[in-house]
Amino acid sequence: MAAIPAAPIPTLPPAAAPGDALEQVDTPSLVLDLDAFEANLRLMQAWADRHGVALRPHAKAHKCPEIARRQLALGARGICCQKVSEALPFVAAGITDVHISNQVVGPAKLALLAQLARAARLSVCVDDPANLAAISAAMAQAGAQVEVLVEVDVGQGRCGVADTAAVLALARQARDLPGVAFAGLQAYHGSVQHVRDRAGRAAVAARAAAAAAGYADSLRAAGIACDRITGAGTGSAEFDAPSGVYTELQAGSYAFMDGDYGANEWSGPLAFRHSLFLLTTVMSVPAAGRAIVDAGLKSTTVECGPPQVAGRAGLHYAAANDEHGVLKLAPDAAVRLGETLLLVPSHVDPTFNLHDSLVAYRDGVVEDVWAIAARGLSR
Ligand SMILES: Cc1ncc(COP(=O)(O)O)c(C=O)c1O
Repeated sequence: MAAIPAAPIPTLPPAAAPGDALEQVDTPSLVLDLDAFEANLRLMQAWADRHGVALRPHAKAHKCPEIARRQLALGARGICCQKVSEALPFVAAGITDVHISNQVVGPAKLALLAQLARAARLSVCVDDPANLAAISAAMAQAGAQVEVLVEVDVGQGRCGVADTAAVLALARQARDLPGVAFAGLQAYHGSVQHVRDRAGRAAVAARAAAAAAGYADSLRAAGIACDRITGAGTGSAEFDAPSGVYTELQAGSYAFMDGDYGANEWSGPLAFRHSLFLLTTVMSVPAAGRAIVDAGLKSTTVECGPPQVAGRAGLHYAAANDEHGVLKLAPDAAVRLGETLLLVPSHVDPTFNLHDSLVAYRDGVVEDVWAIAARGLSR
C-alpha cells in the first residue's frame, strides 16, 4: 500500500459565519430567530415590570452567557443556574448575581460554591439542617457569604420542606450561623408549567402561591423578614407575577418556546413565539414517503415527544436514531436531497445541552455565533 503523504489534519470550521445565508449553515445546528427571541425577552420583562416583580431568567434553559447578557440588558435582576458548575461560565462572563435554584450537597460542590461566592453575589436553596450547617462551614472556611432561600414544596413533590415548623427552624438556623444569611423562600412548582388548559394552570398556580404565602406569613409572625419569594416558570409566570406573593420570576424557556410549551393554551397576554430551531439537512430520500435527516438523538432530545418540522405541511418526524431522524411524508409532500429544514425542539433545556454553539440569525442571514459555554456542566 502506498504511504499516505503527511498533511495537516483539518480542524472543524465553525458551523456558520456572520453574513452567511441560513441555508449555508452546517448541520445539524441550533439556530435562533433573533426577531422572535428579542420579542419574547421584551414581553416577559414588560410583564414582570408591569407587576413590580423581578425577572431572574433561568440560564439552565440556554447555558449561553450571550443570551443572559441580553436578558440583563433589558432589566433582569440576575440569573438562575441549577448547578454550581453551570454558574461558572456566567460569572466568568461578568454576570455577578446568580441564584442556584437547587440544593448543593457534598464537600467538593460546597468548596466550589464558596469560591464562587467570593466572586459573585450568590444565593442557594436549602431544605435540610445538616446541609445548611455544611454550607455555613464551607463559607466560613473560605471567608465567603451566601444568601440562603428555604425551598418549600408547594405541590411539585421534588425538593423542599412542606411544613411550617421546618421552614421556621431552617430560617432561624440560617440567621444564627456564620457565612449564610436567610433571604426568603423558593417556591417553584414544575408540573404546573405544563398544565395544558389556561384555567387549570391558573388554578394550580394559585394553590402554589397560597401555600408560599402561608409559609411567608408564618415567618413574619415569628419576627423573621421574608422579602424574597422566588419561583415561577414560563407556564405559570402569567399568574405568579400578579399574585402578590412572588417577588421574582425564574422563567427560562419563554425566550425560545419549545414544542412542549407550544402545546399549552396561550390565549392570555403572554403569547411567546418559537425562536429556537434545529437546522437539519435531508441526507437521504430512500423510498417514497420517507426521508432521512441528519439530526437524531445526539442533536435533539425526545422525552417530550419528537421535534416538529416547522412551516412545512405533510412532514412528520417519526423516529429519532442516534445520528438520523426518520421523516414520514404525506402523499402530496416532497423533499429534496440536501434541502435544509427547521425543526422545533420539543424540550429546549436538554437540547441546548447537546450543542456547543448557537447560530443567531435575522431575516434568513446569520448575525453571530454564540458559545453555549455551560453545555455539559451538570455537576
Ligand atoms: C427551579 C426552576 N426554576 C425555574 C425553571 C424554569 O422553567 P421554564 O424553563 O419552564 O420557564 C425550572 C425549570 O425546570 C426550574 O427547575
